[in-house]
Amino acid sequence: MPDTACPRPLPARDGPYQPGITSPAWPSEPPRGVDPNAYGAQYAGQIDRQRHCHIVFADVALSTRAELRGLLEKLTRFARHQMDKKPIQPDRSFDAAVTDRRVSVTIGFGASLFTTPQGDDRFGIAALKPRHLKIIPRVDGDEDFDPSLEVTDLVIIIASDDMYVNEYIFGRLYYGGVHPGIVVRRLERGYSRPDSREPSGFEDGISNPKAGASAESAESFVYVGKQDDEPSWCLDGTYLAYRKIRRRLRSFFKLDDDRRAAVFGIDAATGERLPDAAPHAHAQKINPKRANHRDLFGQVDVERRFIRRPYFFDDGVDGTSDEMRGVHHMSFVRGLIDQYEWPMLMWQTNPDFPTKGAGGDALYASGGASNMTAGYYFMPGAAPAAPYVGSGLLD
Ligand code: HEM
Repeated sequence: MPDTACPRPLPARDGPYQPGITSPAWPSEPPRGVDPNAYGAQYAGQIDRQRHCHIVFADVALSTRAELRGLLEKLTRFARHQMDKKPIQPDRSFDAAVTDRRVSVTIGFGASLFTTPQGDDRFGIAALKPRHLKIIPRVDGDEDFDPSLEVTDLVIIIASDDMYVNEYIFGRLYYGGVHPGIVVRRLERGYSRPDSREPSGFEDGISNPKAGASAESAESFVYVGKQDDEPSWCLDGTYLAYRKIRRRLRSFFKLDDDRRAAVFGIDAATGERLPDAAPHAHAQKINPKRANHRDLFGQVDVERRFIRRPYFFDDGVDGTSDEMRGVHHMSFVRGLIDQYEWPMLMWQTNPDFPTKGAGGDALYASGGASNMTAGYYFMPGAAPAAPYVGSGLLD
């Protein structure tokens, strides 16, 4: 759709949620003059990821509560300024004007901010930790990493439509320009494609719940509400489950189209589920959608859903000339244990689900995937009127 017909949605800046999670998303209603049927099927409520993403993992080199509050205030001011900034216009006469670079800077906290791996409650906030936040457990499909050594105090997700904008924002964080107490430990970079197809050619995210006001909206699956048993400062926040997943595509690309589709359990052209997919095909394994089935906690499968906001990476080749290509798999969810860990542990990586000997997710077996690193984080609400993201934690 040309920009003139339907301008791309912007990160939502004045709502209760941090941008970069369920926004930017296409509004539910079509703009005037746009065919409502086509718009409803292809755009309404779909998250429209910015083209580039930097995921910054950082520690906090401070020891007092007051210092931490000072850091969060500066970081929040910086993030808000970057998101509000008007784009620089081209100097040359005939270049197109830039209307918006759709910047979002999304801030999150790791379990080590609340209690260090040595058990130190250095900021006196251990009792206020989000209820489910912890070191991510190891699962089948993980490479050789220790999650307790991967966790960082902060995660900062920078997204925009221009790589150099992300690089600039990252540089300010990295070189101490925002606060010298922010010590960057790792940086990951990813991109999204205009057609949302992942590195082996399938559209990823098509079945995400749609953003909007319905009871089944993305927001209802993602953001902590008053009904959730969480500390009050967690209202409007969400958990991030992150996995860096490498694909080894040499053998996958040798499969014919039908066998590729069988790995995902999805028709590549339509994104629809294959009616005769194997029970261990990727989509069937991670969301079995069993009809008339309640599990032992009384939940139906579709209640255990979350939002996926994947970015793809191409890190060149490794020391053995094997390609380093894959997915920064970012999932956002309100109930980390019920909605995310359950599908991961009881379904996706359980070789005996849905039947004994069914096998693990085909994506990891014949699709050649492995997790290079992983982590859980809590992304607080935006609290636009408060001096810092996570407001209430240190008051
Ligand atoms: C390299 C890794 C991965 C790739 C390339 C990938 C790709 C896909 C594709 C193409 C689909 C079908 C389209 C759609 O429904 O959006 C899908 C569905 C899905 N994937 Fe993945 N995925 C990956 C890893 C994961 C992981 C690690 C999880 C869970 C933690 C996950 C969760 C899901 C879910 C929940 C669905 C929707 C199933 C449904 O409701 O029909 N994926 N994935």
